[in-house]
Amino acid sequence: MRSAVSAGLLAASLLSGCRGGDSELPPVHLIHNMDTQEKAKAYRKDTSGLFADGRSMRAPVEGTVAVGQLNDDDQYYKGFEEEGKETKAFPASIKGDDGAPKADLIARGGQRYRIYCAPCHGVNGDGDGTVNTAKGLLVAPPAMHSERVKELVNGKIFGAITYGVNNGNMGSYAAQIPVEDRWAIAAWVRDLQRQKDPNQSWEPGGIELQPNPTVASVEVGAAIYKAKACIGCHSIDGSRLVGPSFKGIWGRKEVTNKGAVTVDEAYVTESIRNPLAKVVETYPPAMPPYDDKNITDIQLQSIILYFKTLN
Ligand code: HEC
Ligand code: HEC
Repeated sequence: MRSAVSAGLLAASLLSGCRGGDSELPPVHLIHNMDTQEKAKAYRKDTSGLFADGRSMRAPVEGTVAVGQLNDDDQYYKGFEEEGKETKAFPASIKGDDGAPKADLIARGGQRYRIYCAPCHGVNGDGDGTVNTAKGLLVAPPAMHSERVKELVNGKIFGAITYGVNNGNMGSYAAQIPVEDRWAIAAWVRDLQRQKDPNQSWEPGGIELQPNPTVASVEVGAAIYKAKACIGCHSIDGSRLVGPSFKGIWGRKEVTNKGAVTVDEAYVTESIRNPLAKVVETYPPAMPPYDDKNITDIQLQSIILYFKTLN
């Protein structure tokens, strides 16, 4: 009787795979189904010999596009009206019959904003999110009601989410936020601005920059100061923002981490092209670099002409 019971227990534990103990041997596996068949596994070398390069995860065939992933609408997917120029208008597909973004899209944008943007820019867009107020970011997130953000074209708000801002001062949220939701958030931001300021346009014109000026001028310099966001970090009235004020900058003596300098053409050029080369004392190393695609040499000359007028 006792041996019958132990034989029964033994059989039961064998059949159930006896998961309690350690063993080097594979578990007893009576019916194999397809569990142990020869197959390719993701991230593992293909051992079947089916593919000459031994990769089990196959790359898409060259020159092909997956169904529904052509994404050739630059306005919708990149925020560009034409190569390199951010769109003023919202894409037609997000607008209702009255020309304004659809109400359900705006509502969705508000909900997404509160998840992804409010921690820094504040629930009501006042720039007072807890990430900023609790720790104090080196470069503060602007209020959505600030002059600059109110003037930004829609493609730049979409672009802030898609590409980030100023070399990572704000990171890109493209991986977290799908394209449709980025437009929804941009629409919600406009709606928020319009609630505070009834004159705010759904589609502001932004600051027009002469595309490729061939002659340097003070006007071009002044426009760049606004259009390229220098204005967000540098005042022209002497007040301290993120960086030093441009008031009286030309010829000024400056103490940097590499010693004393006088602000001249070479120093301004270096400050713009390679800001970390010398960092002005008491200021954070928060200035983004601008290469000659971002600010052409003529535009840089124009900034210098503009600086000379700020004394
Ligand atoms: C971790 C903090 C943080 C989060 C989250 C964040 N931002 Fe920002 N954002 C910043 C900072 C900092 C700046 C200022 C960067 C600068 O001026 O160099 C900024 C700037 C901006 C600007 C101004 C861009 C310009 O050209 O002046 C816009 C628009 C903006 N953010 C929108 C958003 C939206 C929309 C979201 C949500 C999807 C978001 N931000 C999430 C920190 C954040
Ligand atoms: C995100 C903030 C930010 C933006 C945007 C920004 N700067 Fe700066 N800039 C700084 C900071 C911070 C410093 C001081 C630290 C340093 O020297 O790098 C600085 C320093 C400078 C200096 C040296 C000033 C001095 O007194 O020695 C110049 C010149 C300058 N910036 C020009 C520009 C121009 C032109 C633009 C726009 C095309 C611009 N900056 C945009 C933050 C910014």
